[in-house]
Amino acid sequence: MAGSASIVKRLEGLRAQLREHDYRYYVLAQPAIADEEYDRLLRELLDLESAHPDLVTPDSPSQRVGGQPTKEFPTVVHDVPMLSLSNTYNEEEVRDFDRRVGSALGDETYRYVCELKVDGVAVSLVYRDAMLLRGATRGDGTQGDDITQNLKTIRSVPLRLMGKKKGLAEFEVRGEVFMKRDDFRRMNAERELAGEKLFINPRNSAAGTLKLQDPKVVASRPLNFVAYYLRAGSGTLTSHHDNLAILRDLGFPVSRETRICRNVEAVVEYWRDWETRRDSLPYDIDGVVVKVDALRHQERLGTIAKSPRWAIAFKFASRQATTTLKAITLQVGRVGTITPVAELEPVFLGGTTVSRATLHNEDYIKELDIRPGDTVVVEKGGDVIPKVSSVVKEKRKGGTKPFTMPSECPECGSKISRPEGEASTYCENSECSAQLRGRIEHFAHRGAMDIEGLGEAVVDQLAALGYVNNYADLYELHRKRGALIKLDRWGEKSVENLLLAVEKSKERPFGRLLFALGIRHVGTSVAQLIVDRFQSMEALKNATFEELQSVQGIGPRIAESITRFLEDKHNRKIIERLAKSGLTLEEKKKRSTRQTPFTGKTIVLTGTLAAYGREEAKALVEERGGHVSSSVSTKTDFVIVGLDAGSKLDKAKKLGIRTLEEEEFIKLLKSG
Ligand code: IVH
Repeated sequence: MAGSASIVKRLEGLRAQLREHDYRYYVLAQPAIADEEYDRLLRELLDLESAHPDLVTPDSPSQRVGGQPTKEFPTVVHDVPMLSLSNTYNEEEVRDFDRRVGSALGDETYRYVCELKVDGVAVSLVYRDAMLLRGATRGDGTQGDDITQNLKTIRSVPLRLMGKKKGLAEFEVRGEVFMKRDDFRRMNAERELAGEKLFINPRNSAAGTLKLQDPKVVASRPLNFVAYYLRAGSGTLTSHHDNLAILRDLGFPVSRETRICRNVEAVVEYWRDWETRRDSLPYDIDGVVVKVDALRHQERLGTIAKSPRWAIAFKFASRQATTTLKAITLQVGRVGTITPVAELEPVFLGGTTVSRATLHNEDYIKELDIRPGDTVVVEKGGDVIPKVSSVVKEKRKGGTKPFTMPSECPECGSKISRPEGEASTYCENSECSAQLRGRIEHFAHRGAMDIEGLGEAVVDQLAALGYVNNYADLYELHRKRGALIKLDRWGEKSVENLLLAVEKSKERPFGRLLFALGIRHVGTSVAQLIVDRFQSMEALKNATFEELQSVQGIGPRIAESITRFLEDKHNRKIIERLAKSGLTLEEKKKRSTRQTPFTGKTIVLTGTLAAYGREEAKALVEERGGHVSSSVSTKTDFVIVGLDAGSKLDKAKKLGIRTLEEEEFIKLLKSG
């Protein structure tokens, strides 16, 4: 194949650059380039590899975007069982542990390495010849699941090692996969917007994510990795502390909070210190791990039952307390999600007085059978929001009744509902005061109606004054010009700018408006599908549930959400007012009516085009009503053939599909 040597070279260069940037960003936390530049490199790599699938390597950074879903994870048997640690919660037991270690080691001097006990999921990674071979869960300690494809998506897990270490041709690294609290919160907020089930805490979301069958979804979740154990053939390694340094040199993320402790006093001090500082970390820890440093000492100590005698988990007292549940109330979130809240007899917990705790959702209450009047256990994780974690059933008094979800929104009195298959209950009224602020912010947001100057603070102010109760009110704000000018922090100029920005937003295309309305499950791409199929709000309102569902990409969940939204009388009124104000409620340029050679056709691009980048070519085809697919099948109408086209061209020939050289492609583009 002509030019293939230079392509291999380019591929290698791109991979080396991306590897370096992943390391800088995810391991060292010192990014060297802007995100856009990184994305550009990655896109180039993905494009080149998709044109040359035979040149893809298992350690290519492209593998981090996630491959094909698996039906079931293969089982792997661990070479050496993954032990768990024995736990202790108090100083006395740690001193006992130290005495046992001391007496087993006789006259030898020993020392400890203390580490944070990160609250995540333990995994095992096997490397051979500097490449990640396999990644697995702990499972029952003896055998776990092969989740290599999922672990490859975690950017801080090296796919290829940076350095080489003598005698380490094959080795195993163990560590913890975890999610930072901030990432967890952000992800849950997005899930709430999309109407998806919320995760309970960062640990559960890391565990749940690793179990997903689709690595592409795993790739979209913010997982991290930290290595805390290295195992290699006998004789090459000498101490745990050295092992951590080797791991760091090989490019693994290793905690910076690890300390050498020369006696048990120092261990206790380390534990006390982190007990008070744990909330200052970006992730949850539930204690510290104490390990005897020298590997020959570890060997001498050996293991009993399922835990090593050379290590112990020194956990923090759980931040739990029992108290009485006075009542269960409902809280309405910014997108209408209703969360049941426990109203508690105030109790002191982890440094603060707690009088309210989350109960997550209706099912959570049912599963634990939580009833008003019960004595309950309240828990505070690293996250600030405390939760009710169980009921002390022995203390239940007579006369308590199981909880039933009310049928009306506590804020606005509208009917509330729980869509089939979802855990959350929602208030459907978009004018509900509890949702108002969040909805208007979403509406005005850059990706939606893009109303400059209508940020959080302004929305708050306008809502508090009662000037804006729904989106339609925004377009009547000009009637309040005089009153606005007199407001605090406002003046003629800023009011004029805001009104102008509002006016300008009327021109946003119908698809943007549909997205801006904040219909659950209707993101930008679903909004576009709707526009393509129905073209106007009128047609959409008249569409039946079946018609909606027949659109490719719209399932029953989305169809139901749309129908429900459009049936709501508040929403109907708002849409009418938006129409009166002159917003765009139909697709103006009906793309589909203009016939081009690409209209309705499925096109595959292969090889490198001289005139256009792949994304560019794709956009040009799509503008002309065509659809670009990544693989050749009997449904393909043409294959556009660039330089160094590979297997896709072969497949097209085999299936007898029409191929176009770049020149012909350009001609057709111009004609349409
Ligand atoms: S060492 C024999 N070190 O705690 C070595 N474990 O039951 C066993 N963990 O399953 C693990 N941070 O998930 C070790 N720095 C750390 C750890 C750690 C968290 C977890 C790990 C393990 C459990 C111990």
